[in-house]
Amino acid sequence: MPNYADILKEIEEEIQPLFSQGKVADYIPALSTVNAEDFAMSIQLLYGKSYHIGNTQHKFSIQSISKVFTFTLALKAYGKELYKRVNHEPSGNPFNSLVQLEYENGIPRNPFINAGAIVTTDALTSIYKENTFHTILEFIHTLTNDSSIQYDETIFCSEYQHGYRNMALINMIKSYKNIHNEIDDVMQTYFKQCSVMMNTQQLAQSMLFLANHGTNPKANEALITPSQAKRINALMLTCGHYDASGDFAYKVGLPGKSGVGGGIVAVVPQKMAICVYSPKLNSQGNSLIGTKALELFTTKTNLSIF
Ligand code: DON
Repeated sequence: MPNYADILKEIEEEIQPLFSQGKVADYIPALSTVNAEDFAMSIQLLYGKSYHIGNTQHKFSIQSISKVFTFTLALKAYGKELYKRVNHEPSGNPFNSLVQLEYENGIPRNPFINAGAIVTTDALTSIYKENTFHTILEFIHTLTNDSSIQYDETIFCSEYQHGYRNMALINMIKSYKNIHNEIDDVMQTYFKQCSVMMNTQQLAQSMLFLANHGTNPKANEALITPSQAKRINALMLTCGHYDASGDFAYKVGLPGKSGVGGGIVAVVPQKMAICVYSPKLNSQGNSLIGTKALELFTTKTNLSIF
């Protein structure tokens, strides 16, 4: 087995020159107040050991990583029916793009761009009503075995007050009748799920079921079918980084999902889940150092799926 502790130390050293690059997200004002120099990386093996480096207790807002949780819950509830409302193709467009939606009649390209995640949250709202956010949070508690995880009210309010593009997206989708609930109810849940606060340790733990054919290894409980786990991983690989998904597959070669809070999760099937945090983003809205750290990890360990 590779010496993961040493590999993490090497990665931390090799990323140092990159700290001058990238830019913290500021289109949600509350996100711009984080420490831009923060870095943390956690590796959680399927059974047992975990390895950490950096500020791994620091909680940050998971943002679009939450789309993995909501897609999982919606796929579990609706099965293939879900794809009538949200497709499973890469978009090749930024995460908050409006253009494709109009000529594709309000059917978002995939559940990991904002439009697709909003439809997914709407689909959950049809089932769980006013308990939708509570259901999402409980799912995160189950995956991490940690019920202390909550959302941040300040970040939630900041997103809600500045969510102009997301409001445009949901209104456009509703005009095509692909939103079935009240816009405000869906958006409150969407913004709350984005402002859930987790550290790299908790996020790595939360993704283990995707490395394990859909079964939570701690409780040995099947959360979704192996086939559904396969599909979620496939979409993370092809769509998890928006218009940089090809670049992430090329450099890292793992299913992954990023958030503008600066986190990236990645799955090594049958082996482990990884989370890296560094809030300065590249031009596509993905953690610049996080992407590099994962590239170094698969280069050093040969653990890319390719
Ligand atoms: O919808 C938004 O704009 C954010 N709450 C989430 C976007 C996001 O994390 C995109 N990720 N890289």
